[in-house]
Amino acid sequence: MSTAASAASRASELRRLLNHAAHAYYVLDAPEMEDPVYDRLYRELLDLEQAHPELITPDSPTQRVGGAPAQGFQSVRHRIGLLSLDNAFNTEELEAWYTRLLKVLDREAATALPMVGELKIDGNALALSYKHGVLVRAATRGDGEQGEEITANVRTIGSVPLRLQLEHPPAWLEVRGEAFIPDGVFAAINADREARGEALFANPRNACAGTLRQLDPKVVAARRLDFFAYTLHLPDDWQAAAGDPARPTSQWDSLQWLAHAGFKVNPNAALLPDLAGVEAFFAQWDTERRALDYATDGVVVKLNDLRLQDAAGFTQKAPRWAIALKYPAEEAPSKLLRLACQVGRTGVITPVAEFEPVPLAGTSVSRATLHNADRLVELDLHAGDTIVVRKAGEIIPEVVRVLAELRPAGAQRLELPHTCPECGSELVREEGEAATRCVNSSCPAILRGALRHWVSKGALDVDGLGSKLIEQLVDRGLVGSIADLYRLDGALLASLERMGSKSADNLVAALEASKAQPWHRQLYGLGIHHVGEVNAKALASAFPSAAELATAAIDTPELITAVYGIGGEIAQSLQQWFATAANQELLGQLARLGFSLAASAAELEAATRASEATATLAGQTFVLTGTLPNLSRSQAKAVIEAAGGKVSGSVSKKTSYVVAGEEAGSKLSKAESLGVPVLDEAGLQALLAEA
Ligand code: IVH
Repeated sequence: MSTAASAASRASELRRLLNHAAHAYYVLDAPEMEDPVYDRLYRELLDLEQAHPELITPDSPTQRVGGAPAQGFQSVRHRIGLLSLDNAFNTEELEAWYTRLLKVLDREAATALPMVGELKIDGNALALSYKHGVLVRAATRGDGEQGEEITANVRTIGSVPLRLQLEHPPAWLEVRGEAFIPDGVFAAINADREARGEALFANPRNACAGTLRQLDPKVVAARRLDFFAYTLHLPDDWQAAAGDPARPTSQWDSLQWLAHAGFKVNPNAALLPDLAGVEAFFAQWDTERRALDYATDGVVVKLNDLRLQDAAGFTQKAPRWAIALKYPAEEAPSKLLRLACQVGRTGVITPVAEFEPVPLAGTSVSRATLHNADRLVELDLHAGDTIVVRKAGEIIPEVVRVLAELRPAGAQRLELPHTCPECGSELVREEGEAATRCVNSSCPAILRGALRHWVSKGALDVDGLGSKLIEQLVDRGLVGSIADLYRLDGALLASLERMGSKSADNLVAALEASKAQPWHRQLYGLGIHHVGEVNAKALASAFPSAAELATAAIDTPELITAVYGIGGEIAQSLQQWFATAANQELLGQLARLGFSLAASAAELEAATRASEATATLAGQTFVLTGTLPNLSRSQAKAVIEAAGGKVSGSVSKKTSYVVAGEEAGSKLSKAESLGVPVLDEAGLQALLAEA
């Protein structure tokens, strides 16, 4: 087989393996492949495609996050309009809908019609178009007639198949469903935004909508959206060929069909025999939805039989054959008691409303975040206001609006303070930023945050040093910096509230042991803006000591941005951090306390081993002949040697490869007669890419 043909078949094999693994992981939630294996195969495919760009197909997993940020989005017309649903808020309204439906269908009163009950996912509707089984377009709902084309963003959603699992897919089909952000992911996104000093998203639906409209697909990919499919549109005359599931005749079959084709379908849908079944389903999910990892705001009831759906038809804006049964909004009025302010680890000020406790979504709620100063202005909050508070399931409580008509006369308008509530220093809000912050590095709130971060799991991972204890240490002036933690003695710790001598000794030992944590954890623990766990690892392996990192950060930031995944914003933040005298002082103290602030011999050795293991050209001999299209003879030699290979002048049986270009001479014929494999430049590049 020629190299080109073998590259093509390997690429197709890799696509199949990776897409299969992604389906198991994202759709079935049953991973089949270990992450490192996935990463290795992915890398191999990426490299093959780099060497042979003609092998890139739209369904390649490498194409999930591709391309440069968009300038804007195009408006596209939906092939079939996206309607909305009529709502019912109680069983009377549900029964009235059902009675109307029976009448339209000309059925006897009280006829039992099978229906499908589905959860109403509180996300954003998407319309996905597939041509010959390949995803070609994804659009938002928009006004139902026209939406925005956001294909590049939707491709990043792992549970959206790029190619359908069908033997003979139709020329086109359309799938509708709901994109959403799971609660856990939402919490992580907001925590990260808080750490970066960015404005928080009010709820997962807003976060999802905002994400889908991001211009940079890389940002979308990082937000880890998910998608449940619930509607299938097939060409009228399409029938399944052998090997594919038959054309569905009911909504229930449509869901199974979608799952078979590779979509994630919500597992909680149920086929319900009659209206009593619908009511039971609604009641069941009113409680059980609280345990779900995503927000739902009701259930959707759909007539099961697709022919009956056709017969029932549509009103102006909604199908007659479906209805959304909504859970009562989990909102309640309460009286504002106080506007509090939290100071985060990076100094960001978050306004928090404290109010009379109200029961909401199963818990008593008395505090809700107001996100930032802009939100405060938007709400126009006054002292003593009656506010409406909302909490949906696991979501953090928020203040939805103010009932201004109930405002006491002469009430004062509430604003963010101008000084830090913790240390009294002047607060700063930079232009274009939503966040207001305290920039005093010795502010006790910032110090507490820095200490909590230093001892956290991904950083130095010190057991036995919780928030309460940190608070005591800071409030009593026992600890004024990270370094001070290592100067605490057991006797002093044992004298603190809720500390025995045993736990004090354990803590001292845990702190001592933390000095041996690897360099990347020490770096992450320093809490430098934008240096999360992943960036810390990348930086630590490129710069094996704090001294080297500091020099690069200050003198040669281009070496910082040369690290894969590290951009200008991070480089700037590092530069600022290392240029600050207090931080240099902290590093000096940590070093004197016994921190290496550098990779250990073992870490360095492991890193070298890892890079040697990837130098797969080790032990292989190459002979160059003829003129290569891009590389000069000496460049080709250099790249081979850099990957551990050797270059020799003459061909023998021991030669691993002959690399031949234009006007190759006798070395090529010798290689052919000896059966030595011959590569062209692209073949060499592919080999190097693997290495
Ligand atoms: S069916 C004509 N099924 O709810 C059929 N919609 O309030 C319309 N939604 O725009 C859609 N979960 O964004 C359907 N299982 C589900 C749904 C669902 C959430 C959303 C969808 C729709 C909105 C209508």
